[in-house]
This record gives sequence, structure tokens and C-alpha cells, in this order.
Amino acid sequence: TSNAMWGGRFAAGPDAIMEAINASISFDRRLYAEDIEGSRAHAAMLAKAGIVSDKDAEAIREGLLTIKSEIEAGEFEYSTALEDIHMNVEARLKALIGEAAGRLHTGRSRNDQVALDFRLWTRGQCDAAIEALTKLIRALVARAEECADAVMPGFTHLQVAQPVTFGHHLMAYVEMFGRDLSRFADARTRMNESPLGAAALAGSSFPLDRDMTAKALGFDRPMANSMDAVADRDFALEYLGAASICAMHLSRLAEEMVIWSTAQFRFVAMGDAWSTGSSIMPQKRNPDAAELIRGKIGRILGAQVALFTVMKGLPMTYGKDMQEDKEQVFDAADNLLLSLAAMEGMVATMVPNRESMRASAALGFSTATDLADWLVRELGLPFREAHHVTGALVAKAEDKGCDLPDLTLEEMREAHEGITEGVFSVLGVENSVASRRVYGGTAPEQVRAQVKRWKDRLG
Ligand code: ARG
Repeated sequence: TSNAMWGGRFAAGPDAIMEAINASISFDRRLYAEDIEGSRAHAAMLAKAGIVSDKDAEAIREGLLTIKSEIEAGEFEYSTALEDIHMNVEARLKALIGEAAGRLHTGRSRNDQVALDFRLWTRGQCDAAIEALTKLIRALVARAEECADAVMPGFTHLQVAQPVTFGHHLMAYVEMFGRDLSRFADARTRMNESPLGAAALAGSSFPLDRDMTAKALGFDRPMANSMDAVADRDFALEYLGAASICAMHLSRLAEEMVIWSTAQFRFVAMGDAWSTGSSIMPQKRNPDAAELIRGKIGRILGAQVALFTVMKGLPMTYGKDMQEDKEQVFDAADNLLLSLAAMEGMVATMVPNRESMRASAALGFSTATDLADWLVRELGLPFREAHHVTGALVAKAEDKGCDLPDLTLEEMREAHEGITEGVFSVLGVENSVASRRVYGGTAPEQVRAQVKRWKDRLG
């Protein structure tokens, strides 16, 4: 038999495989709450505009609530023959309230309906990401405050560069996640316009009050062009863009946790609740959660690439290709929220090893820049010459198999005769860190200032 919703012109029903490729109910049932909310707003507007009777609108709105509780109680029977969530809900509505159900779709198409549902859902995901990011940032700020003066090596090229503090390192991630937060907020603002009332593509001949439905659904305004309204998926792409950048940041921090927790580094131990053991090697304590977070970027960025690829060749307006938009976004969103929550847990419970970080910070001539700066400041050497003198001292220490502070004053003087005892004061890692007092620098007082700015910002 032909489809009850659109089968008027068809004598026969679809092939079984046609039905399988066409149906989206297996995944778009996730949009049930948005679908029902949107339909309730549409029905109220139809009544207010005098397009359907108050009595019919009331029956529709009540029936939709019943369906919502049926779905939430697990009592709703989904049908693949009815293709998608929109037609499943409407068919059930007809069974519940009879003919009046057929009036709900007046002045509406599944094209603006699905655009609405998906936009509402994605808007909710922006809010969820903002909330999860805020929690992660709070956890990082708390650990950074605690470790504002914990000296560790700072790296470039993963080679020891200059000493920094663990607190400063963590606050670098706070800045990244802070930008992620504002990207989700920004995307949310731009997507907060209602497509409802665009109908199939050209708008409606019914006197729909698009402002009324927009307002009822928490949108700032209706979308200005009906063709754009049904054809646009920028909102999902922007969400995935923000999610991809955020997942990349999570992946970088996860990678550092993997490195930090090795026996070679021993900068942190991950909490028991966030580690796993090995079935054969009894000593193992694997950072699986960090590794999985590092892996998640693949599917999240993959979702963005997939949706770009779906959209890039589509002529105006809706094409069924667009049904391929949802699963990718659902999957990316689930995995982003899972990763953010796991990262929050790992950050909150990791145990930093101050001694180990401190010892490592002194390796690799990490205060060579401080020595060169001292030569500039105290002896008035041009920086290029100071760099050269320091390089010679590093080579000497390397020959001797010792570190810079282990050289004698005589050995120092062989590189430049003006060097005095005072030089040793800048070769310690604590002094190095304390001296970087510029705004945004790693000196503990500056790290505490960063912490305070973030605490004020988060309230
Ligand atoms: N299930 C469809 C989707 O997800 C709903 C819109 C269908 N519209 C249409 N003209 N066939 O895109």
C-alpha cells in the first residue's frame, strides 16, 4: 500500500530496499522532543491566526503531549514505513485525536519542520557544550591555582626550552577552552533564527505569524528568506567546527597526559578511576581515557568533513541528501560531551609530582636564556653576543657532562672575563620562573593573576 502521508498519487508502495534507504526513523527519533515542541508552537499559532479552530488546536496540542509521554515511557511504536519522526508522530496523533490531526501540517512542510527540529537540537548542544566546558575550565583553574609555583620544564619541539610552572601550563589550556566556549556561544547566537513558516521552500499563502512561533521557541527572529531557511545547514557546520577545534584542544591535553604519566616523565599520575591495568603486565597503569579522547578528534572532525561534503554541491533548496546531516552531528555531539566530562574527571584527580617536574626542569640547560639575559643586563653585551657566549658555556657543560649551574666561576670566565659570582643567582629554575613577571608570563604571581581573572569571569 502507498504511504498514508503522501501516497495520493501512487498506486503501489515502495520497494523494501527503497523503504530501507529512505527511512530515517532509526536515528531521527532523537528529535522527538524538538518535533513535538515545534508542532505545539505551530498549532497554537494556527489557532491564533484563525487558520484552525481553537478546539482543533487544543486537541492537537494535548495529543502531542500524550505522544511525548508515550515516547518517554518507551511505549511508542516506531514504524519504518512512516519514514521519519515527523510522520511517525503525526500518524500517532491521527490515531489519538482523529481528523483534526490532519490540520496540524497546514502551512508547513517537512522541509521547514526538519530544519526547525535539527536547529533546536543543535542549539541545545551548544548549551550543553558550554556547560561542560565551564566545568572543565573550573577544574583546570583549581589545579592551576594549586600548582601556580610548581616548576616544570617548558618545551618547544618537545625539547627543553625554559622553565615554566605547571599552573601556567594548565592555564594555557584554560585560554584554549575559553575560546571554544565563546565559539559555541557565537554559533548559538547566529543559529538562533526560526525556519518555521518557510514551508516547502517558497513560504506560505496562509497568514502564518512567524514571529509568534519564533518567539515561542526561544528564537530571536524568523529567518528572512524561506529558501535559505530550508536549505541551510550552516548551523550544524558551525557547531561541528567549534566541536572540532575543541576536540583538537582536548586531544592535545590528552596527549600531554599520556606523556606526563610515563615512567620516563613521571610528571603526573592519573587517578585510579581514570586508569586501566593490563591483563598480562601487572605493573601497567594505562591512561586509556586520555588515549580515547585523543582518538575522538577523528570522528568529530570526520563528521564535519562528511557534512561539508554532503552540502557542497546541493542546488537550492532541500535535497534528500540532507537527511545525511543528522547521524554525524549526533555522534560528534555525544563524543564531545563524553570527552569533556572525562577530561574534567582526569584533570580533577591527576596527582602532580612536583619533585619529578622540578628535577626535569633543571635538565637540558633550561636556564641558558636567563644566562644570556644576565650578560645583557649586567655586562651590557648585545644580545647576539650574549647568545654566543652562552652557547660556548653550554658546550663546555655538555663536554663536562654537567649542568650550567655546576660550572665553576673560572670556567665561566673563560667564556667571558666580565662574568661575576652574581651570575649563579639566575641559573636556578625558581629564579628563572620568578623573573618572568611580564603580563601573561609564567612567574607564580602572574599565574595567580590569570587564575583570579578566570575566577572573576566564571563567577
Ligand atoms: N527525514 C527527512 C530529513 O531528515 C525529513 C524531511 C523530508 N522532506 C522531504 N521533502 N522529503 O531530511
